[in-house]
Amino acid sequence: MGQWRHRDSNEMEESGNEAGETNAPTAGVAGNVEEEKISTTTLTLNAEGRYLRQWRIVRKEVSECVLCELHRTRKNTVFGVGAEDADLMLIGEAPGADEDAQGEPFVGRAGKLLDSMLAAIGMSRERVFIANILKCRPPNNENPTPNEAEKCRPYLNRQIELIQPKAILALGAVAAHNLLDVETPIGRLRGAVHEMSGSGIPVIPTYHPAYLLRRPQGKAQAFEDLMLLCDLLEDLGVSTT
Ligand code: URA
Repeated sequence: MGQWRHRDSNEMEESGNEAGETNAPTAGVAGNVEEEKISTTTLTLNAEGRYLRQWRIVRKEVSECVLCELHRTRKNTVFGVGAEDADLMLIGEAPGADEDAQGEPFVGRAGKLLDSMLAAIGMSRERVFIANILKCRPPNNENPTPNEAEKCRPYLNRQIELIQPKAILALGAVAAHNLLDVETPIGRLRGAVHEMSGSGIPVIPTYHPAYLLRRPQGKAQAFEDLMLLCDLLEDLGVSTT
């Protein structure tokens, strides 16, 4: 799938290049097919350049972020990892100690279980994009405060805008509550397809892998959620093999 499958030619023409010039083809009107082809290629390259630049900007902003107090205690920011054109995004809560140390999401014990959950639906880390509601570790792994989640949210929104996933798996109550803008217990949210407020992207909430490590009885329900996700992805034309 193309990295910027969502960009139509109007958008590209309107935004112009980085020098502020417009890129609208000029030769086509006169019927010069070769020149029109070159202009179209230039448009495409400029659009790709802007897309890559947006990624660079958001990565840099996250790495330098001081918008909440968590920057004082973090070792690393945890931007997220995976395919920048993923059809499926997984969103967790916040980095823990291992993630803070390595700068990558879900690298601890919960991450191993997450890998198995992905394997159960024929997916792998490389094919999805994994991010969290917070980019920095809350000390003692406390739940994100509403202020921390609010300050961090624009980064996640920009990642979602750039990736344009077809579906999101929300890992745990914190992710589900923030994405759906509800406070319904996770046990009542799971087992169904919801829509992310604002974007309308389908969201399937399920139990957080760390919760499943503490309470393995929940794994059967988590598996049901994964099967629901498989059906959804199939309906959306996303292959899981
Ligand atoms: N738990 C999360 O929610 N995210 C991580 O990255 C690691 C553990």
